[in-house]
Amino acid sequence: MSEVITIKSRSEIEIMRQAGKIAAGARSMGRQAVKDGMTTKQINKAVHEYIVKNGATPSCLGYGGFPAAACVSVNDEVIHGIPGKRVVHNGDIVCVDLCATYKGFVGDCAGTYPVGEVSEEAKKLIEVTRQAFFEGLQFARPGYRVFDIGAAVQEYVESHGFSVLRDYVGHGIGRSMHEAPEVPNYRPDRSMFRSNPRLVKGMTICIEPMVAAGDWHVNVLKDGWTVVTADHSLGAHYENTVLITDGEPEILTMADDL
Ligand code: MF3
Ligand code: CO
Repeated sequence: MSEVITIKSRSEIEIMRQAGKIAAGARSMGRQAVKDGMTTKQINKAVHEYIVKNGATPSCLGYGGFPAAACVSVNDEVIHGIPGKRVVHNGDIVCVDLCATYKGFVGDCAGTYPVGEVSEEAKKLIEVTRQAFFEGLQFARPGYRVFDIGAAVQEYVESHGFSVLRDYVGHGIGRSMHEAPEVPNYRPDRSMFRSNPRLVKGMTICIEPMVAAGDWHVNVLKDGWTVVTADHSLGAHYENTVLITDGEPEILTMADDL
């Protein structure tokens, strides 16, 4: 990944808005497909078809060899689940994570949704993970640095008794899905990152809390992708692409059901 943080021009921001809107619509399709009896592959299909129908391309498909448009992660799977034959049932929680490339720019978003009636813990995990994004978002503005976002996410999540993954982070975004800077969901040790850049107008970043109900340690399954909690506690993930402005941050992957 290039170390250079790209600052988007007005015309680039306009395209990013369009890419973000398509990604958000695709997430809505994924959310609606999260129903008892659906396979994770069917959920992926709903996302994929929406992206293509709207003139964009599914950027996850083929990315590092990932075989689908959406990552669909169930229960103790936190991120990067590969869609397949698995059927989701009442009581499960399902994360749908996707990227759409439109006119050369990428929109990236994710959400975790319940299937039917889920446990109180699952409900709380979904809500805390979503709200953690908005806690971090408050620091997504000039005058703060990237690590201030993660510190806010971590504090909020841990205050509710959950933990944030350390091995995966948010990121800058633009012509590439993953650009500088890294946007961790915790305040990192200074030695771990070369810099903690200031946030400036025109940066576009993905803030994406990845939260475990139990301990934050994770394992990658033999498929090489699926990230599961080591203690098999529930995991949740919520993400939006965000534009830094000189005032309020703008969520580019906004939708009515955000
Ligand atoms: N939203 C995920 C991310 O930020 C998308 C992963 S796509 C995959 O990394 F292809 F890498 F799975
Ligand atoms: Co992302």
